[in-house]
Amino acid sequence: MATTNVVWHEHKTTKSSRAAALDQAPKVLWLTGLSGSGKSTLAGLLEQKLAAEGKHTYLLDGDNVRHGLCGDLGFADKDRVENIRRISEVSKLFVDAGLIVLTAFISPFKADRSYCRNLVEQGEFVEIFVDTPIDICEQRDPKGLYKKARAGDIKDFTGIDSNYEAPEAPEVHLEWKDESAEETAERLYALLVDNGLLG
Ligand code: PPS
Repeated sequence: MATTNVVWHEHKTTKSSRAAALDQAPKVLWLTGLSGSGKSTLAGLLEQKLAAEGKHTYLLDGDNVRHGLCGDLGFADKDRVENIRRISEVSKLFVDAGLIVLTAFISPFKADRSYCRNLVEQGEFVEIFVDTPIDICEQRDPKGLYKKARAGDIKDFTGIDSNYEAPEAPEVHLEWKDESAEETAERLYALLVDNGLLG
């Protein structure tokens, strides 16, 4: 919806002054992947690691955000689009506050992930594809949702009867099969550091 009769107000305290006060480069570390791929677990471990280094972070998690900000949304395509639009706008505000934002949403559609990438400045959006094969997600099935989806008790389930568009050129492509969550989080952290993605 286009806004009319609303004029942007420029303030003296800026993103760069806030970031300088926090002594960090604000970012969005955007984890995308199937349900059960381990996004939330990895994002939590990564946030703990960054916090231990004195970084100022905030983790937006799919299940949690759907209890509040996005509590009115379901899982039809149009609801998922709106979900990711709201998260993208919130991420932008938190980046403006100088924070390192971690997000853990399935975010199945390329166009919606690009929406967030284009909202923030170049280099501030780091797409992390948590590439766990669907058979492993289904074996893990921590919430019993795949079982329900296979039984037809949940409709529009990602990877079953709702599409997941895998990233084509993510900043980080994290394949995860046999390692522990801790080992995988260490590998993710190393990839971010080695590729200068946290700087
Ligand atoms: S999306 O597609 O980005 O809007 O989804 P998201 O906000 O990340 O929410 C995903 C979590 O919701 C639970 N859930 C479902 N996932 C996929 N499809 C359907 N139909 C569905 N219904 C409920 C599920 O617990 C997801 O959590 P994760 O952590 O991804 O497993």
